[in-house]
Amino acid sequence: MPDAYSIRPAVQADGSFLGDMVVEAANWRAGGARPRHEILTAAEHRRYVSGWMRPADAGYVAVDSEGQPIGAAWYRMLSQADPGFGFVGTAVPELIIGVQPIWRAHGVGRALLRRLVVSAREQGHSRLSLSVENDNFARTLYRSEGFVVVDAGPTRVTMVHRMP
Ligand SMILES: CC(C)(COP(=O)(O)OP(=O)(O)OC[C@H]1O[C@@H](n2cnc3c(N)ncnc32)[C@H](O)[C@@H]1OP(=O)(O)O)[C@@H](O)C(=O)NCCC(=O)NCCS
Repeated sequence: MPDAYSIRPAVQADGSFLGDMVVEAANWRAGGARPRHEILTAAEHRRYVSGWMRPADAGYVAVDSEGQPIGAAWYRMLSQADPGFGFVGTAVPELIIGVQPIWRAHGVGRALLRRLVVSAREQGHSRLSLSVENDNFARTLYRSEGFVVVDAGPTRVTMVHRMP
């Protein structure tokens, strides 16, 4: 049963765990169980973690009472030549988030999201983007935290949070 958790800034040593969270995000649909190595060797997913941590990367990791990571949210600046699913511009970082299955629906994701938005604003970013599939409930979470749809495709939408 999930217990208390806390949130700390992500560090370089978190790269492997962030890879785990990319796998969770790619496999979010119930029954979707693509193997880790298959997801993380695909350029469309690898770009979110390869070379972590670069100077413009930032993120937070939620840890349980024993310090074990249980979730993470981070952003990274991707280029027009190698864009992410939620690319809206060269100077706009893209957000990725994932929480370990046993810890979901306990407020960890929302807490991570809020910390990351505050951090992005403090770093001087005026926007933060993300991509989410149309039928992922996370879309409702993002909307409730101020993200709005700026582009809608057949299977996924791009959402942007504008900093006040
Ligand atoms: C999406 C994700 C990061 C959200 O983190 P979380 O810790 O589960 O979310 P929270 O507990 O903070 O819940 C946020 C809101 O979503 C709702 N929610 C949580 N799980 C839900 C579910 N399975 N179905 C519908 N709503 C759900 C909660 O009720 C909450 O709303 P509320 O505050 O109004 O009650 C996490 O569920 C996850 O890792 N999912 C798999 C990977 C994924 O889909 N990543 C996003 C890819 S774009």
